Amino acid sequence: MKIKLHRRTRKWLLALLLFVFIAAWFGWYKFLRTEPEPKWADQSERFKYGSIGAEFSRGMPYWIWAVLPRVFPDLMPGPGGYKSFGLVWEEGHEMPVGFTKQVIGFPRVANNCAICHVGTWRSKEEEVPHLVVASPANTVNVQAMMRFLIACGKDSRFNSGVLLTEISREAKLSFIDRQLYRFLLIPLTRSALQRQEQQLGWMNRPHVPDWGPGRDDPMNLTKYFMTTQPLDNTVGQADFPSNWNLQARKGTNLFLNWSCDTPSVHSVLIDSALGLGAAPDKKSRLTYPLDWLDWNLHRRAWFVQRMNELDDFLSVLPPPKFPFAINAELAATGKPIYQKYCAECHEVGAPRTSKPIPIAEIGADRERLDTWSQAAADEANQAVKSLGITRPNMVKNEGYCSPPLDGIWMRAPYLHNGSVPTLRDLLEPKEKRPKIFYRGYDVFDPVNIGFIFSGEAAEKNGWRVDTSVRGEGNQGHNYGLDLTDAEKTTLLEYLKTL
Ligand code: HEC
Ligand code: HEC
Repeated sequence: MKIKLHRRTRKWLLALLLFVFIAAWFGWYKFLRTEPEPKWADQSERFKYGSIGAEFSRGMPYWIWAVLPRVFPDLMPGPGGYKSFGLVWEEGHEMPVGFTKQVIGFPRVANNCAICHVGTWRSKEEEVPHLVVASPANTVNVQAMMRFLIACGKDSRFNSGVLLTEISREAKLSFIDRQLYRFLLIPLTRSALQRQEQQLGWMNRPHVPDWGPGRDDPMNLTKYFMTTQPLDNTVGQADFPSNWNLQARKGTNLFLNWSCDTPSVHSVLIDSALGLGAAPDKKSRLTYPLDWLDWNLHRRAWFVQRMNELDDFLSVLPPPKFPFAINAELAATGKPIYQKYCAECHEVGAPRTSKPIPIAEIGADRERLDTWSQAAADEANQAVKSLGITRPNMVKNEGYCSPPLDGIWMRAPYLHNGSVPTLRDLLEPKEKRPKIFYRGYDVFDPVNIGFIFSGEAAEKNGWRVDTSVRGEGNQGHNYGLDLTDAEKTTLLEYLKTL
């Protein structure tokens, strides 16, 4: 049977088809068209500013991100815009280190590893800070920044009228883009920030200490983000570690993360990038089917390759050299002391390096250890698998990891919770280690090895640590305590060479 259409109907159908086609093209162009990233000068630049794939699911519209500090200066910790969160900002760059910008329909801002893994040091206050790629981001207060964004989302000033007025001072958006911001992007960003408040509510409970600069609560973040484990009472503020020279961390039965939660470099990289939002959120299959489609069709393959390249880069990135003079003779005297008292747990390839040292033996604050469980590991492993990604599984161990000490000078303050400000203090018993000190000030003390942690400038620029607060305990790691002062000085000199 032949269906005969009226000529008029045919015309209408054609017009409808054309309309659908144009609408689809418009939708694709304005929301999905992905522009390639710029060519990076080298892998360090890429580490600092390059995408790890978080813009699609977790990206904030660039213009909203850009104007928030000017609309909400009263919600910021101080003057200077985003810099007031201690972010590292290189001269002449549009955005701080650890921030990425990519056009997916519209320019979106997301974070990469560098927000927590690029730190700075100075030899004196007046000096321009030196950046060290893959060192702990010692000055960056991630929690304060997240709280700022959430507070913006709750504020009545977060509306299209106010934000668009501010945006128009900066940029000439086209009529269409203004309507997109007005009716879609601003309201959607607002509700995304409100959802984030619920997701992060656990960290605002009264018994949970703040993280301060240079730290977060990594396993609770992982647990509450990747699994359905119920809220528990644990707290686990942990120092950002270094991630250079990762080849030294590879091998059978070698572990990473402070409580040896992962047996593989590759898994840490993947799980960290997932935490930043590289894959779609597990609850969004119905609400954001396009995100899932994009992930399955194209983004996952890109992601796997990006993780391989990141692994290649970090595996051979050398630790930073101690930037002050070293007394070679003194260091040579310190070497046998290191070999006698420390090497067994810290020398690459030694029997107990990168292994869980039982909590009873190491004696450090146990709170961070208790934030992770086998049940959480099982569920996180399942969650990663369901994204179509294969990687060695996370585990549960009952001790703290004994890491190699490469570039140790740039990893202060010390121990998993950053409870001991300098290497010299680490060689003292708990009673003699500082009970109150300030972290987040990046002027370096080459004698005691660590950042300056007391005095007016440290108090003004730093964040107060009280080692009697939950999770901040500075006990344990009782090695080298009985050495004479002269021996400690030679050992410290040797540690500068690592
Ligand atoms: C929000 C801050 C943050 C971001 C972003 C982040 N990390 Fe980390 N990273 C941490 C913290 C904190 C730890 C320590 C975890 C623990 O307590 O075991 C860590 C641990 C690691 C380790 C293990 C080091 C060791 O000594 O065991 C590696 C490797 C690493 N991160 C790489 C990355 C990479 C690669 C990315 C980006 C894909 C990334 N991280 C993103 C905070 C962050
Ligand atoms: C029995 C094993 C063992 C011995 C011996 C040992 N350590 Fe450790 N070390 C550890 C463990 C485990 C940690 C992690 C503890 C924590 O994070 O709370 C650690 C952490 C450290 C850190 C902090 C690393 C960081 O990034 O914050 C330094 C520095 C350190 N050790 C130096 C030494 C020195 C110096 C000696 C010798 C005088 C020594 N260690 C002897 C097991 C050991």
